[in-house]
Amino acid sequence: MTIKPPATRLFSTAQEASVAVATEIANLIKSSSEPVVLGLATGGTPLKLYAELIRLHRVEGLSFKNVITFNLDEYLGIPPQHPLSYWTFMHQHLFDHIDVPASQIHIPNGSLAESDQEQGCAAFEDAITEVGGIDLQVLGIGLNGHIGFNEPGSPPDTRTRVIELSESTAQRAASDFGGMENVPKQAITMGVATILDAKSIAMLAFGESKTAIIRRALNESITAEVPATYLQQHDDTTYYLDEAAATGVPF
Ligand code: F6R
Repeated sequence: MTIKPPATRLFSTAQEASVAVATEIANLIKSSSEPVVLGLATGGTPLKLYAELIRLHRVEGLSFKNVITFNLDEYLGIPPQHPLSYWTFMHQHLFDHIDVPASQIHIPNGSLAESDQEQGCAAFEDAITEVGGIDLQVLGIGLNGHIGFNEPGSPPDTRTRVIELSESTAQRAASDFGGMENVPKQAITMGVATILDAKSIAMLAFGESKTAIIRRALNESITAEVPATYLQQHDDTTYYLDEAAATGVPF
C-alpha cells in the first residue's frame, strides 16, 4: 500500500472547515452517476457539517436520493428511539431534513440480543461490501485518540464488533446520561480495518480540547495507544482543522 501521510487543511473557524467538507461531499454526489457511499459520525464535531448539508439540500436543491450511509457506531443496550441513541442523533441532526431514503441508512443496531450481536456485526460489514465500500468516511477524534469507538488498544485488523467503552469516553457521556451509572457499558463500532478500507477519509477536529491529541495523531509513530495514528497508513486522509485544534501542527 502507498504510504501518503495525511493532508492537513487549516481553517480560521470550524464553520469554514465544515463548509469545505460539505462542499467535498456535494461535489462527490453531483459528479457521480453511481450511488455515493458516506460513512458518518456523531458527536459535537460534525454538527456544523450536517447543518451545511441540510442548507445545501434546502437552498441549493442538493439531493441525497443517490446516497447510502453507514454510521460508525451506536451504544449497545438502548433502543434506536432512545433520546441519546446515535440513531436519534442522526435523524435529528441530518436524516429528517434531507431526502436520503430510509432504506439507504445503516446504523449499527444497539438493541441486538447478545446471541445476535456477532451475526449483526458481520451483516453490517457485508452491507458495506455489497455497495462497493465507503467512498468518504467522516471522522471525529476522541480526546484519547479513538476513532469510532475504537478505543486505545484496538488492533489495526479489527472489523465491526462489540467493544467496552473506555473510562474517559464514558465520563464524557455521563452528563448526557445523568450519571456514569446510566452510560451504556458497551457499543458496536466499525473496526479500524473497516475505517481504513474507506476510499477517502475526512477527519474533523475543532477547538483547543483537541490540540494535544491532534499533535499525537499526526506526529507519533503508529500505535494502538492512539488509534487515530492508524490513519497515517491510509493513502487519502485529510485533516480539517480550525486554528485552535491545529496549534503546533507544522504546515
Ligand atoms: C462518534 C464517534 C466518536 C467521535 C469522537 C469525537 O460517532 O465515533 O469517535 O467522533 O468521540 O466526539 P466529539 O465530536 O463530540 O468531540
